Amino acid sequence: MSGMLITGGTVLDQSGERRADVRVADGTIVEVGNGLEASAGEQTLDATGRVVSPGFVDLHTHLREPGREESETIETGSRAAAKGGYTCVVAMPNTDPTQDSVSVVEFVRAQGEAAGLCDVRPSGSITIGRLGQQLSPLAELADAGVHLFTDDGDGVQDPLLMRRALEYAADLGIVLAQHCEVKRLTEGAVMHEGHCCSRLGLPGWPSVAEELMVFRDIELVRLTGAPVHILHLSTARSVDLVRAAKADGLPVTAEATPHHISLTDERLEGYSSLYKVNPPLRTMADVESVRAGLADGTIDAIATDHAPHAPETKERPLDQAPPGMLGLETALGVSLASLDMPLVDVIAAMSWKPAAIAGVADQHGRPVLPGEPANLTVFDPGAEWQVVPAQLASKSRNTPFGGMALRGKVWHTVLRGTATVVDGQPSR
Ligand code: DOR
Repeated sequence: MSGMLITGGTVLDQSGERRADVRVADGTIVEVGNGLEASAGEQTLDATGRVVSPGFVDLHTHLREPGREESETIETGSRAAAKGGYTCVVAMPNTDPTQDSVSVVEFVRAQGEAAGLCDVRPSGSITIGRLGQQLSPLAELADAGVHLFTDDGDGVQDPLLMRRALEYAADLGIVLAQHCEVKRLTEGAVMHEGHCCSRLGLPGWPSVAEELMVFRDIELVRLTGAPVHILHLSTARSVDLVRAAKADGLPVTAEATPHHISLTDERLEGYSSLYKVNPPLRTMADVESVRAGLADGTIDAIATDHAPHAPETKERPLDQAPPGMLGLETALGVSLASLDMPLVDVIAAMSWKPAAIAGVADQHGRPVLPGEPANLTVFDPGAEWQVVPAQLASKSRNTPFGGMALRGKVWHTVLRGTATVVDGQPSR
């Protein structure tokens, strides 16, 4: 294929919206304008009535390989990402073995390249084995190209270790991303601690377990000057803490998941493990605060926390089932259905803002202009649809969004000039 022409769409990027066709050759955007004609051999992607934007970037994807390939592989997860409009995902480090060594992160990157469906950027763990005892070889991993470090699945409990990690991070130019959870307060918890959990008789995960660590890490940022990214923010107070930190000029960024802007703890009333997630679904007041945080820019990014789990594990009783939900293929549809924000701000939170946090802004989330890498998403912002779990590209089926009316559907995804998704279907 010698090139590609995306016709009839509305281009939406950092500079706003305009009607334009987009020509791509050799992985690069070469022409943006009206009335462009396809030349012989060029693939044409129809974008009539649709939006052409920079490709989406997910800061928070669990790809499960190595170690849990029965739930997802880098190939199936990359395919799910492409279907969701993503051209780049940051792979979380809670694999087996953990992404705490150069050999493991290089394996993850190589598998992503072999799949060729999405740029897979491995994160590194902050501590060896994510055990919270000893720092990972941060400098070596940074030399190997790792930009984002996290013990996600767990927060770094020890404040001294976190302080040291931040001091190294300031020198190395890397970003630490925290899963904010004071473990001592959440032992045995299966859902948000509040009225609903008392009624159901289930052990609760109190909001303060998140907020204490958000507060601690903001203060450590103030002390060290190193940036922190706060993962899957879920409570009203956490949003307030981040808002205040930003007002103080601290280098704090934050993300929220599609499920924390759309679902509440009341979903657990049927005791279905599909709604078990960490941090847990909270109250409507929290959901509204998280939405408001996205709308006013306190929360920088929408990140999926795509957490595939094999059906036999999610079929266990609620207290034994693992936490986590699929997210990649439904993120746009859930976000546009849940948020009352200008479209450009939603796409900013799914593309160029997370690209900057992930350290991939040289390749992804770029303006749609000649000379830029052709990493693009074409979507219909008004399309209403429902997810059919059996049709997901992910190897797992644990979506909580079955039956929900979603709005906004991805039609085509283009990775470095090659279509990874055409008419909603993965091309390979
Ligand atoms: O619900 C979650 N699932 N939260 C996490 O932090 C980890 C994730 C997983 O790996 O399944």
